[in-house]
Amino acid sequence: MLVIALCKGRFLESSLNLLARTGIRFPEDVASSRKLIFNAEDERYRAVLVKPADVPTYVEYGAADIGIAGRDVIMESRADLLQPLDLNFGHCKIAVAGPKGAHSINGSDHPTIRVATKYPRITMDYYNARGIPVEIIPLSGSIELAPLIGLADRIVDLVETGRTLKDNGLEILEVIAESSARLLINRAGYQTKREEVLRLIQALEKVVR
Ligand code: PRP
Repeated sequence: MLVIALCKGRFLESSLNLLARTGIRFPEDVASSRKLIFNAEDERYRAVLVKPADVPTYVEYGAADIGIAGRDVIMESRADLLQPLDLNFGHCKIAVAGPKGAHSINGSDHPTIRVATKYPRITMDYYNARGIPVEIIPLSGSIELAPLIGLADRIVDLVETGRTLKDNGLEILEVIAESSARLLINRAGYQTKREEVLRLIQALEKVVR
């Protein structure tokens, strides 16, 4: 049996639809249940539901053979995984944003720029690569609030439609990376369960392309 880690929340429905199109269906209503483990109808696959940021961890440690998660959380986790496939949904950007009209990427008012984010590693890498001193303010949600009430000069966050930025008087200053849903594979599992894993990759590839 292959264990697939799926994100709770935004990605869940698209992930389940994608799996259904390859013939992997679950007898229960996964999205509305409070259960966390679901066996597929054919008993060859098991889905486990985890927080998006935890998907790379489950797959890296082999608790799940396969996962579906955004490139954003994979980049942030730095987990050692195989990423064979862009699943072509959940498109968004990881971007530096700040108040409209903010003149520069580094915010010239402070020697050290304060950046609120739920992506501390991506943010640190971005500013370090540019030699800009940065203080990371780690938050776990409502990141756009931080520059509005003086907690940070900038944010690094996901932008999908751009609506949250716009409604809060913020704008993109620079795009760090494009993100979308990716298939993740545990390295050891790719060797020991090669046939099943390859079968699933090929089935998904057909559906995605
Ligand atoms: C995400 C992200 C932005 C928003 C972007 O937050 O952190 O806040 O979506 O989407 P938009 O560009 O379409 O407006 P999420 O809804 O996951 O909630 P959070 O604030 O709890 O992170």
